[in-house]
Amino acid sequence: MAQRETWTTRAGFILAAVGSAVGLGNIWQFPFKTATNGGAAFVFVYLLAAVLIGLPTILGEFAIGRRAKLNAVEAFEQLNHPAWTVVGGLGLFTGLWILSYYSVVGGWVIRYTIGSLTGGYFADTATYFGAVSTGVEAIAFHALFMALTAGIVAFGVEDGIEKATKLMVPSVVLMLLGLGVYAFTLDGSGPAYGYYLSPDMGYLANNLGSVVPFAVSQAFFSLSLGMGAMITYASYIDKDESLPADGGLVVGLNTAIGVLAGLVVIPLLFVQFGQVPEGAAGGGPGALFVSVAQAFANLGMAGRVVGALFFFVVLIAALSSAISLLEVVTSYCVDKYGWNRKATAFGFGGALFLLGTLAAWDTAWLGWFDTLAYSVLLPASVLLGVIFVGWVYGPEAIDEVQQGSNADAMYARLWVWWLRTVVFVGVFVTLYLGVTSIYA
Ligand code: PHE
Ligand code: NA
Repeated sequence: MAQRETWTTRAGFILAAVGSAVGLGNIWQFPFKTATNGGAAFVFVYLLAAVLIGLPTILGEFAIGRRAKLNAVEAFEQLNHPAWTVVGGLGLFTGLWILSYYSVVGGWVIRYTIGSLTGGYFADTATYFGAVSTGVEAIAFHALFMALTAGIVAFGVEDGIEKATKLMVPSVVLMLLGLGVYAFTLDGSGPAYGYYLSPDMGYLANNLGSVVPFAVSQAFFSLSLGMGAMITYASYIDKDESLPADGGLVVGLNTAIGVLAGLVVIPLLFVQFGQVPEGAAGGGPGALFVSVAQAFANLGMAGRVVGALFFFVVLIAALSSAISLLEVVTSYCVDKYGWNRKATAFGFGGALFLLGTLAAWDTAWLGWFDTLAYSVLLPASVLLGVIFVGWVYGPEAIDEVQQGSNADAMYARLWVWWLRTVVFVGVFVTLYLGVTSIYA
């Protein structure tokens, strides 16, 4: 077998992991899930979930990937636990499932990049969203997004993925900061900040059963957990790197970018509608597109340039996440069966395009794909991974986490203990509530 590629630098891995984490989950999904789950109450639980559950979980995936130096499925065999390849398999499936509709939203972003340049949405942003988010047009742009994703993955880790993500993070932060400041200066944005930042504990108490599972699953989705992506990326890391430091950085940056996106979208929604509107064209999946597009429309000619730039940067963020999803299955087939990388990337890309056409045809389908991912697939996959690290792989995981970090062994043991208790219970409850909510 050919020498396995590694990241050329530490920054290469961090950027790629952050590139995987930061995506539509932060910029599109986080603001709208916040808006449909009670505002600040959701943000509050999400922050807890990212730190108390997301961080220890990502560390587990890093430890699996780096030790095994293999794709997310075979990693479990390599660690001498062949039965647990099931976990890798479920992660792989979850990732593919998510990519099928992720690409649909990625297609919307391409559409909006063009729509900014032409001023296509300037007249009526809500109607425009309704027109381009479904049907033939949505399918065409979904195809384009998937083709771009497969194209980058076909080139391999060093040439494709590492280069594509280098500029993305700083640009995303700058654009969001700029828009956030702009939104703050607008009349009518004031009440948004209370809604977004000051949790209504009464709402939280009454809706705990839906806010908690959504927030926990959002943390998984956003951190690219439970889909083999972080296992796969960590398989290319050097032994002398500190996994806890890397994990902290990824979680911190990813969370900050999500919160920042909310500081753009929610105030802009309040400016336009006086509240967070109900329904698809503003409150749900349309929130980012309708609200931010309106801000650009208000800017007139300048809005065309700024809008195109903004959506272009979002597109890069979406692509760097999508490629990490496709890389999981591609590296598996290349490692295990010696398949041709290009053919594998385009083959799976094509199949997922077909599956995703359902979600592109109608946002109701998209919602259903998303619900299944959030309520069942993600928590189930993460739960199995947590059980694996906590009880099966424990001692080796402790050793792996200590490699390259100067941390005391006590912290590493504490971490496994934390996985077995807080994380296990949190994810179990999330899965239980998710599954029962589907049948409700
Ligand atoms: N974390 C990405 C986002 O927030 C989505 C993603 C999930 C990417 C899983 C890779 C793997 O947009
Ligand atoms: Na994310």
